[in-house]
Amino acid sequence: MVLQRLRKARRSRQLGLTSGQIGIYNRYVREREGWEKHLGKSRQAIVDAVEQFKPQSVCILGSGLLLDVPMEELLSRNINITLVDLAHPAQIVNKYSSNPLVKFETHDLTGGLIQYLQTTRLKLLNFFTLVNLVSKANTYASNADLVVSLNLLSQLSDIPMEFLRHKKVLTDWQCIELASTIQQKHLESLLKAKSLLITDIMEEFYDEQGNLTATRPTVHIDLSLLTYVQEWLWEFDSAKTYNEDAITKLRVVSGLVNKKG
Ligand SMILES: C[S@@+](CC[C@H](N)C(=O)[O-])C[C@H]1O[C@@H](n2cnc3c(N)ncnc32)[C@H](O)[C@@H]1O
Repeated sequence: MVLQRLRKARRSRQLGLTSGQIGIYNRYVREREGWEKHLGKSRQAIVDAVEQFKPQSVCILGSGLLLDVPMEELLSRNINITLVDLAHPAQIVNKYSSNPLVKFETHDLTGGLIQYLQTTRLKLLNFFTLVNLVSKANTYASNADLVVSLNLLSQLSDIPMEFLRHKKVLTDWQCIELASTIQQKHLESLLKAKSLLITDIMEEFYDEQGNLTATRPTVHIDLSLLTYVQEWLWEFDSAKTYNEDAITKLRVVSGLVNKKG
């Protein structure tokens, strides 16, 4: 029992569950100018979807620090807001928990992979068990009039993948296979409601002269079912703290999720 609790605490640290949102906030403070353009475009995409669908309720998946959520705009329209995240930052809970329009839900949107990685002994982790777990998991279903997956899709797979790669549990191709499975399940869950997806799809690395030197996909699934698509570059890290060899920008897309055909 004690061992299990210790393992869970250690794994939470290794998965970056507590430091992740702090890292996001610190980078936001350092890179405010470049980030604001991206956050503004994300907020505007949500406002556009709200104007199109006129929802009475909105569910935000990956709500975190709400940097990219037009809270005032949604509240001024009397929209009921459900915020869903793996962990809600204390300052956000303090700010909104007494607001009757705002509800907090805590879920692992991979359908249980995070909990599994927190509690399972390293030598029992293997590719087939992990893929099986994600494929068979019940995905989160919201009954809100509009669901927004907000700068979450790449994170959903990146958090477990960084850990599994670091622990050498999976090879590179197995990491990509598992990431695709996680992302595809999430996309399928969005098809069950009117949904807006906002996600980075590619890391782009630049030299000091502004030349593109390399890219790395962060999303491994087909997003051609999106409509009303917009695309922009998120000036993510100009100080080379994310990749010490390059300035990093993220290519971001937003679009409505529709069944194909
Ligand atoms: C890049 S942030 C999105 C930006 C966020 N809206 C903000 O302003 O802070 C990704 C969010 O997804 C959450 N997240 C990551 N993996 C998750 C999972 N498996 N289930 C639920 N939320 C998750 C993180 O906790 C984080 O708050």
